[in-house]
Amino acid sequence: IKDEDIEMLHSVVSFRGVPMAKMNVENWEPVEYFQARHDDVVLATYPKAGTTWVSEILDMIYNGGDLEKCQRDTIYNRVPYMEIRIPGMPSGVDQLELLASPRLIKTHLPIQLMPESFWEKKCKVIYVARNAKDVAVSYFFFHQMVKALPDPGPWDKFLADYMNGTVSYGSWYDHVKGWWEKRKQYGILYLFYEDLKEDPKREIKKILHYLEKELSDEVLEKIVHHTSFQVMSKNDMANYKTIPNDILNQTNTAFMRKGEAGDWKNHFTVAQNEAFDNQYQEQMLGTSLHFRTAI
Ligand code: A3P
Repeated sequence: IKDEDIEMLHSVVSFRGVPMAKMNVENWEPVEYFQARHDDVVLATYPKAGTTWVSEILDMIYNGGDLEKCQRDTIYNRVPYMEIRIPGMPSGVDQLELLASPRLIKTHLPIQLMPESFWEKKCKVIYVARNAKDVAVSYFFFHQMVKALPDPGPWDKFLADYMNGTVSYGSWYDHVKGWWEKRKQYGILYLFYEDLKEDPKREIKKILHYLEKELSDEVLEKIVHHTSFQVMSKNDMANYKTIPNDILNQTNTAFMRKGEAGDWKNHFTVAQNEAFDNQYQEQMLGTSLHFRTAI
C-alpha cells in the first residue's frame, strides 16, 4: 500500500450527505450500477451490528450445515463486502462478479445508497440491527484495530463523533430508521442482535422461513453451536485473524471482542449515558422501532 493510499484510507468524506470512507466512494459507478441476480441474498447492517455472525449463519444454511464446506475460505471471501475498495486488492464488486450463484452479499450502505438492481430483481434482503450503545462501544474498539478508519481518539471524543453522525456510514439513527421504513414497502427480514443473542435457534428459524429453506433440527442445532461466539472466535475462517496486523490490528483487542448485549454499561459514564438517552429519545420519536440495550 502506497503512502497516498494510506492517507486516503484514513479519510472519511461526505458522499451524498453520508460520511463514507473516501476509498470506497472514489469510484462509485460499479456499486451504483451493480447487477443483482434474482437469487442473491443481501445482508445489510450498520457496522458492528453482528454482520460477521449472521454471515456465518447464512453460509452454513446455504451449505446445509456442512462444516467442511464452510471452512473453504474466509468469511470476507465467502460473503463479500460489496462497496469495499482496498488498493491492490479486488474490490467487493469485482469479487462478487466472479462468485457463483447463489451469492451472499454483505453491505453497510444506508438505504438511500443501495443499488436499485436489488429491488428490481426482488432479492431477499436481511437487515440486522443492534442497539446504539453497544454499537458505539464496538465501533470504538474497531476504529482502534482498523488501519483504514480514522484514529478514534479517546472514548469521549469518539462517542461525540458517533452521536453527531460523523463516523463512517454516518448516523446510526438514520441507518436503522431508513431500513425500517423500507421494510414497509419491501419484504425485508429485519432482525435484532439482542434477539439472536437471546435465542439463536428461534432467530435462525426466522431466517430459514424467510429464505424458504428447511433444515433438520439436528442441522439447526449444529448451526447454533458453530456460530456461537465461543466457537466462532476460535474459527480462523471467521475471526479475521487471517488479515495481517498492519491492516487489522488485533494485538490489543480481538475482532471477536466480547459478543454480548449490554457491554456498553462498562464504558458509558453516567453523564454520557444521560446525554445519550436524551438524544435517543429525540431521534427515535415517532418510530415504532424498538431496541433492547440488555437482555
Ligand atoms: P463486540 O465488539 O461487542 O464484541 P460486525 O461483524 O458487524 O463487525 O460486528 C462485530 C460484533 O459482533 C463484535 O461485537 C463481535 O464480537 C460480535 N460478534 C461476532 N460474532 C459473534 C457471535 N457469534 N455471537 C455474538 N456476537 C458476535
